[in-house]
Amino acid sequence: MPAPNRKLRILVSAGPTREPLDPVRYLSNRSSGRMGYAIAGAAQQRGHAVSLVSGPVALPPPDGVIRIPVVTALEMLAALRAALPAHEVLIMAAAVADWRPEAVSPVKTKKQAIIGDGMTLALVRNPDILATLHPLKGNRLFVGFAAETGDPVGEGWRKLHAKGLDLLLANDVSRPDAGFEAPTNRVSLLAADGTREDWPLMQKTDLAVRLLERIETRFK
Ligand code: CTP
Repeated sequence: MPAPNRKLRILVSAGPTREPLDPVRYLSNRSSGRMGYAIAGAAQQRGHAVSLVSGPVALPPPDGVIRIPVVTALEMLAALRAALPAHEVLIMAAAVADWRPEAVSPVKTKKQAIIGDGMTLALVRNPDILATLHPLKGNRLFVGFAAETGDPVGEGWRKLHAKGLDLLLANDVSRPDAGFEAPTNRVSLLAADGTREDWPLMQKTDLAVRLLERIETRFK
């Protein structure tokens, strides 16, 4: 008889972040949150305790999952930093905006206030959340994603090492059946020990289960 899975405390991030320019405009990306929500839901169904730090998405929280809503990358970092000590696994499925406007106007920017037809936006880099949290990693398992439009596996290995991850799922977001908004995804799972698995195209919900099986074996 296989040993029952240990109940894990799993922290998942999902969705995009949204970086405001003024009260009516923002910078963001095409993340729907589906992948992270599928992981959170599957983890909860497999008996784990799940916290979900979520950017703005149109999805309801999976049953039984504690959802911590955030908007910006800085808010996501703060929420994850606060939650991390109580968790053994961090799965960063969120598509964090890498830049934010240097200044946020408290009032709507009016066209008359801009001279000419063009406009230049000054942006500043957001922190890399995984790299920032790495000093708190201890013996926690850190799992990341790599969203790529070319050479997902090559870039995946680079990001796995650069961010000090245990596992990374690399996916080609230029494919219509994988990545943003699609219900399906095709990924390669890369591990810090150098092993690689190329998974076939599958539903994000099935991919979530397969990922959790891989994570659970590491805690046996
Ligand atoms: N990530 C993060 N903090 C950021 C950006 C990304 O923690 N500011 C995480 C993502 O959640 C993901 C992994 O890092 O798990 C890789 O994200 P990705 O967008 O593919 O790569 P970037 O590191 O942002 O690099 P680039 O955009 O240059 O490809």
